[in-house]
Amino acid sequence: MARGRGEREDYEKNPGLLSLLQVLSFLVVFVAGVVIGLATSAHINRHFGSQTEIYSFINHFSSNKPNEEENCTIVQGCEKVDCLSMETFLQPKNLTHDMSDDELFWRASMVPGKVEFPFERVPKVAFMFLSRGPLPMMPLWERFFQGHDKFFSIYVHVLPGYTLNVSSTSPFYGRQIPSQLVSWGTVTLVDAERRLLSNALLDFSNQRFVLLSESCIPVYNFPTVYKYLIGSNHSFVESYDDPGRYGRGRYSRKMLPEIELYQWRKGSQWFELSRTLAIYIVSETKYYTLFSRYCLPACYPDEHYMPTYFNMFHGSLNSNRTVTWVDWSLGGPHPATYGGDNITEDFVRSIRNSGALCQYNSEMTSICYLFARKFAPSALEPLLELASSVMEF
Ligand SMILES: *[C@@H]1O[C@H](CO)[C@@H](O)[C@H](O)[C@H]1NC(C)=O
Ligand SMILES: *[C@@H]1O[C@H](CO)[C@@H](O)[C@H](O)[C@H]1NC(C)=O
Ligand SMILES: *[C@@H]1O[C@H](CO)[C@@H](O)[C@H](O)[C@H]1NC(C)=O
Ligand SMILES: *[C@@H]1O[C@H](CO)[C@@H](O)[C@H](O)[C@H]1NC(C)=O
Ligand SMILES: *[C@@H]1O[C@H](CO)[C@@H](O)[C@H](O)[C@H]1NC(C)=O
Ligand SMILES: *[C@@H]1O[C@H](CO)[C@@H](O)[C@H](O)[C@H]1NC(C)=O
Repeated sequence: MARGRGEREDYEKNPGLLSLLQVLSFLVVFVAGVVIGLATSAHINRHFGSQTEIYSFINHFSSNKPNEEENCTIVQGCEKVDCLSMETFLQPKNLTHDMSDDELFWRASMVPGKVEFPFERVPKVAFMFLSRGPLPMMPLWERFFQGHDKFFSIYVHVLPGYTLNVSSTSPFYGRQIPSQLVSWGTVTLVDAERRLLSNALLDFSNQRFVLLSESCIPVYNFPTVYKYLIGSNHSFVESYDDPGRYGRGRYSRKMLPEIELYQWRKGSQWFELSRTLAIYIVSETKYYTLFSRYCLPACYPDEHYMPTYFNMFHGSLNSNRTVTWVDWSLGGPHPATYGGDNITEDFVRSIRNSGALCQYNSEMTSICYLFARKFAPSALEPLLELASSVMEF
């Protein structure tokens, strides 16, 4: 006997029982309907007993309108209210807001369903500075940015309570985002990275997203950096399999079954992301939660979360290398820091071109690094002196 017919059999066997049920359920629905109807009309009568009351109710709202909802176009700068203007929607000029991380990440995760832009979109590179406090290399960066206003935006995350002292003519002016406490080595560092990404994503013109520290410097000029990043089919998130104790040694079996040992990757925190990958990172919860629970010191989420996550899901969009040069040759847990005494023309030239070749799209290039770290404040003056002759800005 077919299963479909068997299901219906009980009803067909008892036609008398079926019609009794039908009558009963009809009665129940009818009585319920009458009761609801009576209750609703009584409720409405109590509130809107007469027409005058209804009108005063409507007037109450309309008379409040001009006072409470100020004219968007005349509120100073239009920054306080989220006006329905296209300009504020596409590019928030004032970075101050009181959104929680959840609200901010949600807003930042929005992707337009329409492919064409209804405005002339010049893709920009978002330079995101993550620092505890001051940015000693700021004068070098200001020189790097000079004359390229339409092609970049800056975001700065410092510890809460710290205010950057920036002159109003600097591109860093007013670019501090609402921040929260960061303890290095914990997942709060990834939170800060996502906060920077989210604020930058709110500007629809931002196309590439670079994370930089207070000790980072640019080693090529802006047009070179811009062309390199905007023209790349891949993002630059270092991601490699380190079999040693500082690589696979930091993996926790508690991440099973979601993350297996062979998927585990390591890489530098200083990433460069396309808009697509940036949106994946601010939208993602599952793997972020695993890392926040089970990647605890001596596991550092900022060195493993993105390298592992991209390896698992978006490997084809990643170059797996970093564009930020760093010197680990001294050994130990920290890379070398270069001060004023160490800055020479040859040294800077060797970062720009070491003789090695790197893959870029489907070709090879001698330009492997666009940025470099770590530089002490004393390196600023000698670097400024080399800027025009060596770094060409
Ligand atoms: C809002 O501002 C615009 C431009 O200043 C003005 O034309 C308009 O009349 C104002 N509307 C109200 C309701 O104040
Ligand atoms: C940005 O908006 C905040 C309040 O939302 C205000 O206090 C601040 O002055 C504004 N900044 C600028 C540069 O307009
Ligand atoms: C901010 O910088 C200016 C110019 O460099 C300096 O004169 C001023 O004292 C600084 N202010 C603070 C609070 O550090
Ligand atoms: C980067 O690694 C992924 C695997 O995670 C691989 O699929 C991809 O081809 C690599 N990218 C390049 C440019 O080699
Ligand atoms: C920088 O210069 C100082 C003084 O000459 C030297 O001791 C130090 O080793 C140099 N650092 C590096 C990373 O080369
Ligand atoms: C990079 O992307 C462009 C445009 O989508 C495409 O024409 C080109 O073939 C891609 N290059 C590589 C190496 O994938």
